[in-house]
Amino acid sequence: MTAAKPRILTGDTPTGRLHLGHYVGSLENRIALQDEYDCYFLLANMHAFTTRADKPAEIRQDTIEIVKDWLAAGIDPKRSTIVLQTEVPAIAELTWFFAMLIPFNKVMRNPTLKTEIDAKGLGDTYSFGFPMYAVGQCADILAFRPELVPVGEDQEAHIEMCRDVALKFNQLYCGVGNRVVPEDHVKAGGVFPIPKAKIGRIGRLPGIDGTQKMSKSLGNAIMLSDSPKDVQKKIGRITTGRQSPTEKGDTSNVLFTFVRAFIRDEARVKELERRYAEGDNIGDGHIKQELAEHINALLEPMRSRRAEYEKPGGDDLVIDIIKDGTRRANVVAEETLHLAKKAMKLDFGRRSLAKDTQHS
Ligand code: TRP
Repeated sequence: MTAAKPRILTGDTPTGRLHLGHYVGSLENRIALQDEYDCYFLLANMHAFTTRADKPAEIRQDTIEIVKDWLAAGIDPKRSTIVLQTEVPAIAELTWFFAMLIPFNKVMRNPTLKTEIDAKGLGDTYSFGFPMYAVGQCADILAFRPELVPVGEDQEAHIEMCRDVALKFNQLYCGVGNRVVPEDHVKAGGVFPIPKAKIGRIGRLPGIDGTQKMSKSLGNAIMLSDSPKDVQKKIGRITTGRQSPTEKGDTSNVLFTFVRAFIRDEARVKELERRYAEGDNIGDGHIKQELAEHINALLEPMRSRRAEYEKPGGDDLVIDIIKDGTRRANVVAEETLHLAKKAMKLDFGRRSLAKDTQHS
């Protein structure tokens, strides 16, 4: 961890294991950026409670499982910092301050929240805490004063809100003029850099049903932890409606969306597209076979890295990684809170949480 590197913050709500959509949408980016940036990966376990307050044991297990997915995918806890949201008090405090900087109605119009309310069938019975998580997410991010936030397309509205909060904070409390461009906010005295979203290679991967976004709960997902056989079976379930190897095919279908996403050999993809479009003697079955092989080649190293954490005692290893990362994260988040409070004329003496938690 070197302080000189620019920082990244992103995270996941622990709701179960991760799938290929998470991988191409964000995980792949995170792994690639680990050398260039000082990376913080947040376990948004508080957010999990906003819709599942009655399931603490599940949330705990999901939190551990998601770390296993991260480690399997290639997040390296020596280079990157894994952060448990509920053990970073500065995030909860900043959430309150930021809640005063966003109009209530603006939160309620957030399109990502609206989509979630529909998708999860929350109706009008969701908790007060549910829309609050969007404000909390601004605090998750800004607590680490990052430059970049690698996320999937569905999170863009949240990042936009976070940028608004940071701009407003710097203007209200740090004397940054409202004509200063976002890039110059820190130079002009702002506490918070205005972070940018970094959208993954594929913003929205469809599920194998080809209609909806890939999602475990919709049963259309290929999980990072699936076995080679499962991968083959699931790819086999993709339907295109094409009847024979000589029928002209439509390369905008779901099968080819997957081909372009997971066969990382441009010349081969072009060749497959051409033959498919022309009906040049190439069957769906053949393409599926080739696609499954590529996906399995991607997942194979993940399977071997995961094995270490699936052994007895694996959960304890994961918990140690979480504790270690969270201790480091609190050093940064406490510093941010201190700077924010000072700007808000709330500097009435500073607690020494980062030091206190060093050895616990
Ligand atoms: N809301 C994000 C999701 O469900 C998870 C998340 C929480 C997050 N805090 C974050 C993502 C901060 C990026 C930055 O995927």
